[in-house]
Amino acid sequence: MPKMVAVVTGSNKGIGLAIVRELCKQFQGDVYLTARQVGRGQAAVESLASEGLKPLFHQLDIDDVNSITTAAAFFKDKYGGVDVLINNAGIAFGVGDTTPFPVRAEVTLKTNFFATRDMLTHFWQIIKAGGRVVNVSSALSSSALQQCSSELQQRFRSEDMTEDELVGLMQRFVDEAKRGEHKQDGWPDTAYGVSKLGLTVRFSCLEICHCFTHMLKLSNMQKLLKV
Ligand SMILES: NC(=O)c1ccc[n+]([C@@H]2O[C@H](COP(=O)([O-])OP(=O)(O)OC[C@H]3O[C@@H](n4cnc5c(N)ncnc54)[C@H](OP(=O)(O)O)[C@@H]3O)[C@@H](O)[C@H]2O)c1
Repeated sequence: MPKMVAVVTGSNKGIGLAIVRELCKQFQGDVYLTARQVGRGQAAVESLASEGLKPLFHQLDIDDVNSITTAAAFFKDKYGGVDVLINNAGIAFGVGDTTPFPVRAEVTLKTNFFATRDMLTHFWQIIKAGGRVVNVSSALSSSALQQCSSELQQRFRSEDMTEDELVGLMQRFVDEAKRGEHKQDGWPDTAYGVSKLGLTVRFSCLEICHCFTHMLKLSNMQKLLKV
């Protein structure tokens, strides 16, 4: 039987690194720290090695579909699939960042929604029976929902939302933001909140058939963080 394997995206620092640290201590199998930039990933592996932990490394840039499919093929070939996938990689512009809103909207949605969706699309088929998929969302997704127009809220809360409709809505937000008209169109003024709202809704659209799925809130992650 192939060895068990856990994969954490965007884990060269922050919450992802903390998750890898805890998995190295608790998970009965190989743990992969992944990073879009090889140097940063290897430095993180070395920092955990200095704590006596032994994560493995694979390059994985979720914005790059070739990188996603290369990694998926590697895990399928070496382990017969993936037992635990933690979709942690994400970006947020800091408070006070002066990047124009249209750029923030495009960049944030690209990684947090569209690229995480690509991860789910390509890895879903290699999650082993009984495996776990965790998407790291944010409480800001629910506050973003509450700030949406009633028409948008109704769509996001509806049980017949298709993936195509959701993708169309996320693209509509980016397009309206570029025109400076997202607020008139019923969207809140938070690209990060909308990106995590889309991720949360996307995940609930998945047909849950052969593995356990979780949305991980920060409150549940605090215990993983070394403070
Ligand atoms: N911190 C919070 O208060 C908080 C609250 C709720 C939810 N979250 C969520 O928790 C997750 C981790 O947050 P964090 O605070 O640990 O953030 P962080 O310290 O900024 O770490 C983000 C990680 O994601 C990686 N990343 C970004 N874009 C990527 C891409 N295209 N491909 C692969 N990796 C990529 C970053 O890599 P680089 O080092 O190369 O940039 C970094 O390793 C995110 O999804 C975030 O939205 C955070």
